[in-house]
Amino acid sequence: MATIGIFDSGAGGLSVFREIFRILPGENYIYWSDNAFCPYGDKPREFIVDRARTITDFMLENGADIIVVACNTATAAAINVLRAEYPVKFIGMEPAVKPAAAITRTGVVGVLATAGTLAGQKYHLALSRLAPGVKVVEHVGRGFVELVESGVTSGPQAEAVVSASLQPLLDAGADVIVLGCTHYPFLSDVIKKIAGPGVAVIDPAPAVARHLAEVMREDGLLPSCGTSPDAGRLSSCGELPANVRLFSSGSPETLQKLFKSLTE
Ligand code: DGL
Repeated sequence: MATIGIFDSGAGGLSVFREIFRILPGENYIYWSDNAFCPYGDKPREFIVDRARTITDFMLENGADIIVVACNTATAAAINVLRAEYPVKFIGMEPAVKPAAAITRTGVVGVLATAGTLAGQKYHLALSRLAPGVKVVEHVGRGFVELVESGVTSGPQAEAVVSASLQPLLDAGADVIVLGCTHYPFLSDVIKKIAGPGVAVIDPAPAVARHLAEVMREDGLLPSCGTSPDAGRLSSCGELPANVRLFSSGSPETLQKLFKSLTE
């Protein structure tokens, strides 16, 4: 059994964890929520690189065989440094603008992400590779991370916060919304409710999970063929599976609670 380390500024990376667990339920997991330093979105790049190094050291001391940077902002800020400095593979988040561009009918793709992700090189490279004719409009999901970290993923407060950032993208004609921050999938019901049935919402987490499994197979961390016959189900009674360890630089109790409410 391999040990997969997963980290994020907070509980957002659980949206990636749940997709990985679905296809690889039998591996060991270490999840780190860097809650004491959340949000990362507006923090300087160097600060995030330092946090990513500290977390990586912890993951390696705890036996991680591969590390998933389940945070778009940390991927943008730190993944190149991590790959250069550590002898372990890192899987990062990719801005899903290409699949979004492939399905838009209006020719307008909306991206919701943090300021750090939207300013990053990776995102700009992805934009530069798009076919001409597709327009991309962006908005920071102001307050989205704070909502999810406080366990609010539905109701009037969530709808008001989401609407303020989403409406400008809808007004610009976007018929596909890319979720460019791992916290945002937990608000996808609210996003879909506001956007309506004609708008597709893309969460890159399932593609990241499949990519992780491929890389692990290539590296001999998983058997070379076959998937789990029994897709992973997180216990509906809210128990933490025995092969999952949760850590937080902030409040471990809050993380436990969020794990139960967000992954059930
Ligand atoms: N979940 C993160 C991301 O994917 C970080 C959000 C934040 O801490 O601002 O970007």
